[in-house]
Amino acid sequence: MRALEVLLILIGISSVSAGTVDQLAPAARGAAATITGIVAVLFFVEYLVRLWVAPEIPRLHAATEGRSRLRWVISPEGVIDLLAVLPAVVAVSGGARLGAESASVFVLLWVLKLATHAPGVEMIARVFHNERSAIAAAAALFAIVLFSAATIAHWLEGERQPEAFGSIPASLWWAVVTLTTTGYGDVVPQSALGRVIGGLVMLCGISVLALLAGILATGFAEEVRRREFVRIWDLVARVPFFSEVGAIAISDIVGRLRSRSFAAGVTVIRKGAAGDSMFFIVTGKVEVRLGPRTKALCDGDFFGEMALLDRRPRSADVVTLTPCTVLVLNVADFYQLAGQQPALIAAIETEAKRRRADDRGADTS
Ligand code: CMP
Repeated sequence: MRALEVLLILIGISSVSAGTVDQLAPAARGAAATITGIVAVLFFVEYLVRLWVAPEIPRLHAATEGRSRLRWVISPEGVIDLLAVLPAVVAVSGGARLGAESASVFVLLWVLKLATHAPGVEMIARVFHNERSAIAAAAALFAIVLFSAATIAHWLEGERQPEAFGSIPASLWWAVVTLTTTGYGDVVPQSALGRVIGGLVMLCGISVLALLAGILATGFAEEVRRREFVRIWDLVARVPFFSEVGAIAISDIVGRLRSRSFAAGVTVIRKGAAGDSMFFIVTGKVEVRLGPRTKALCDGDFFGEMALLDRRPRSADVVTLTPCTVLVLNVADFYQLAGQQPALIAAIETEAKRRRADDRGADTS
């Protein structure tokens, strides 16, 4: 559904953009206008459907269906959806046909609509919110350098180039272009001192932008880590093996686990291969193939521990019988955990002992 809507938005943006190309043949421009019209109508229908189903959305629940719908209408998503259809509604109700230029407003509105569907947008907003004080500090630094540069450039260059540096506001254009290292080159200091200041402003610009990039990159990494932690925590809660472990130990384990999904029929472990990780099954079923014997393991079970404990190659093939979600603990984390959570590793060892005995018994019989 979402993919279809995104596709529709992209088609709409392309058709509106095509309509503004004067060199296009009239027939092609006519076709682009028709496609734009169809997309606008489909968005109008979509708006009505969304309005109708708004009471079904839990976060919009209100005393009456009408109020739930009103909540949706005034929500950011509702406002953007309304803006995306409004120009077409106004034009059609006024009996006019949307011309290419007036239709171009759709590009902006539909890009906005696309933004509400992009999964990363909410994350970007969150990162900006989390890092607001650091961003504000970098912005303050930017403003300090900007106004200092504009003022000094005004003193040094004001007499030589009155149009570009005659006032501080006029000098700000040069300061912004230099500080952001854009360098259009339309305004250039002519005095030696002015050029020295220009060079310093460029260096400051690089530093401030690098600082901002660093703040945002760290913010993103933090946010991704936080989200991954919550997701893995959720999966760990579904594995009974971890239910006995206390909250502090769990948080230690969660940070070391990665989730992976496998389709049915995939060989997760191959006999004889080196053991580099062990697996906890969150959902699904796997088969341990021990020669002619097989053992089925399902939700909550683990496998792949023997190679890590014995430091030997894998003792059997392990193949998924159904689609599986597993939590993976790699060998380095396994040994670190052995030092920090001995009880957990002891429980794994007990089960491994039982399995070894089971395998030996089967071999000798
Ligand atoms: P590993 O030897 O690393 O790789 C194969 C895995 O199959 C092994 O670890 C165990 O996790 C699992 N396995 C081996 N024997 C048994 C058994 N008898 N019952 C359940 N699982 C087993």
